[in-house]
Amino acid sequence: EAKQDWQGKTFIITAGPTREAIDPVRYISNHSSGKMGYALAEAAAHAGAKVILVSGPTQLPTPTGVQRVDVETTEQMLNAVQQQLPNCDVFIGCAAVSDYRVAEVASQKIKKEQNNQPPQLKLVQNPDILQQVASSEKPPFTVGFAAETENLKANALRKLERKQLQMIVANDVSQVGLGFNSDSNNAIILSKDSEQSLPTMSKHDMAIAIIDAIAKRYFNTTAN
Ligand code: PMT
Repeated sequence: EAKQDWQGKTFIITAGPTREAIDPVRYISNHSSGKMGYALAEAAAHAGAKVILVSGPTQLPTPTGVQRVDVETTEQMLNAVQQQLPNCDVFIGCAAVSDYRVAEVASQKIKKEQNNQPPQLKLVQNPDILQQVASSEKPPFTVGFAAETENLKANALRKLERKQLQMIVANDVSQVGLGFNSDSNNAIILSKDSEQSLPTMSKHDMAIAIIDAIAKRYFNTTAN
């Protein structure tokens, strides 16, 4: 179990996918199940923290002792995070956030026969929740994930640097059975001056390892 006692500290953890409507029946999303984020919420709560889990659509039960806020879109996830941010000590962005949404959601189901042509979707960029948290006025200890299919470490380090994070979990999602929507995972925990490779393990065990890694740095770098 996570060793450090997080009593009196508040975590915000995002989990699951976000979902961006195209029309009333269709949406853009991804394969995130929420399992990794929920495991983190459970591990942090177990270690004594107050945990607010901001969750996209998942099939999972709320871990014991965790306060869950359900959202669907990236905008909603950002709003929910911002609302809780003033009291947050540690932020973990584990959600697979949709980078794009359609510029205008169709109010009616898009018809096949329109113009005899496949519809063209115009996409616009979503806000970056993690980046906004990390660059907020009084930023919490901010941990990101990097889901990569190639150049795992280099890409993750670039995100750590660009988004000014304290820590990033470089998540190898190139193999079937690891990462998205599976029970095991494989990752490297990176900070500016440390690196910890985790072997393939259950998301439950990985969550405990990540919370421990955060504790090690958090309690060394803050006075209280
Ligand atoms: O949910 P599971 O099925 O258990 O799968 C777990 C997981 C693979 C989804 C998870 O371990 C993981 O890697 N989550 C991050 C997925 C992702 O979107 O990675 P990214 O490299 O695209 O994003 C980098 C970071 O920025 C992430 O912390 C992400 O939450 C954040 N982000 C990205 C875009 C955006 N608009 N806002 C964000 O906050």
